[in-house]
Amino acid sequence: MSGPGRVLLACASQPVDRVPVWLMRQAGRYLPEYRQLRQHHDFLTLCETPDLAAEVTLQPMRRFDLDAAIVFADILLLVRVLGADVAYVEGSGPQVSGLPAAQDIHFPHLDRVHETLAFVGATVHQVRAQLAADKAVIGFAGAPFTVLSYLLEGGPSTDFAHTKALMNQDAPTFCRLLAGLAEMTYAYLDLQVAAGADVVQVFDSWVGALAASDFKTFVAPVVKDLIQRVRALGVPVIYFAPQTAGYLREVAGTQPDVVSVDWRISLAEARRLTGGACQGNLDPAVLRDGPRARIEREVRRVLDEWGDRPGLIFNLGHGVDRRTPVQHVHWLVEAVHAGPR
Ligand code: CP3
Repeated sequence: MSGPGRVLLACASQPVDRVPVWLMRQAGRYLPEYRQLRQHHDFLTLCETPDLAAEVTLQPMRRFDLDAAIVFADILLLVRVLGADVAYVEGSGPQVSGLPAAQDIHFPHLDRVHETLAFVGATVHQVRAQLAADKAVIGFAGAPFTVLSYLLEGGPSTDFAHTKALMNQDAPTFCRLLAGLAEMTYAYLDLQVAAGADVVQVFDSWVGALAASDFKTFVAPVVKDLIQRVRALGVPVIYFAPQTAGYLREVAGTQPDVVSVDWRISLAEARRLTGGACQGNLDPAVLRDGPRARIEREVRRVLDEWGDRPGLIFNLGHGVDRRTPVQHVHWLVEAVHAGPR
């Protein structure tokens, strides 16, 4: 296939010769060649060295016939622009430290985003130059709420107690921080688009912790404005908001080109609620566990639930589990290519 490629067509709900497929966390620890590189370089060094980050981005593209490469970076690189330290601690998730109290967090001039994260632009540029024209390069950032939750919790959380306390007790500060992060996120995505990203995905991994009404009041307006500004740069936007099946209509109301949904909702229902293009939604545990017949059956089920219409990007409902055998990914990609029943 030549031209803009299947992912861009699907983002525009245009017909495709076959459903495009890529996987969140398609680069990473389930790949032996990634683990090999990680023996010599820590995670941040991989991210900050464009030659290495481009290499890691392209590793899954060499193994599998995927339709998009997602630039190798992390949503928390942005918080270092605020002066925070981010430590990637094996087993316990990323830890964020070194920030003042919420009321005392101030935002730098946006030039600082471009200066501090210029290496991500260099990676995007290299990947775009090395990849076939019909394969999309996906840039990404964390959404303001999800990044703010890392700032306030200091790491992964189950109840988001600090984040919700700020929202409940000092809404003006909560809103000021969301707005400031949205500005930084816009600058970060602008940098990636200028470097050649064809599509961007905004990861709101933790937003499903919010009540529907709080999503609508606090988060949706900020995300909607961010998405609108990024779309004005000339690229489609995918909004990933897992665990929001209960308010998917409000999620779609932020008007991304594509809503990325998890496995807690059928694609038929997701399509009905969003009214537009969707990405998803296989449970990553199916890909991890197999066996082959179950992967094939579940891929067909997902394709069948969507039906024979444009506007689907096949993906998982969340990232590839690091215990996933490489062979399983081959089976998944083949099954997507084979299509529905
Ligand atoms: O292949 C890709 O999808 C591109 C690269 C990518 C990474 N992180 C690389 C990474 C992307 C898109 C992300 C996004 C990201 N980072 C999210 C949103 C998606 C999601 O998972 O909900 C979040 C919440 C983060 C924060 C973060 N960074 C987490 C939760 C982790 C994993 C911690 C762990 O130990 O498992 C990281 C580290 C990280 N980011 C790794 C990778 C490959 C593992 C680093 C290593 O090699 O040790």
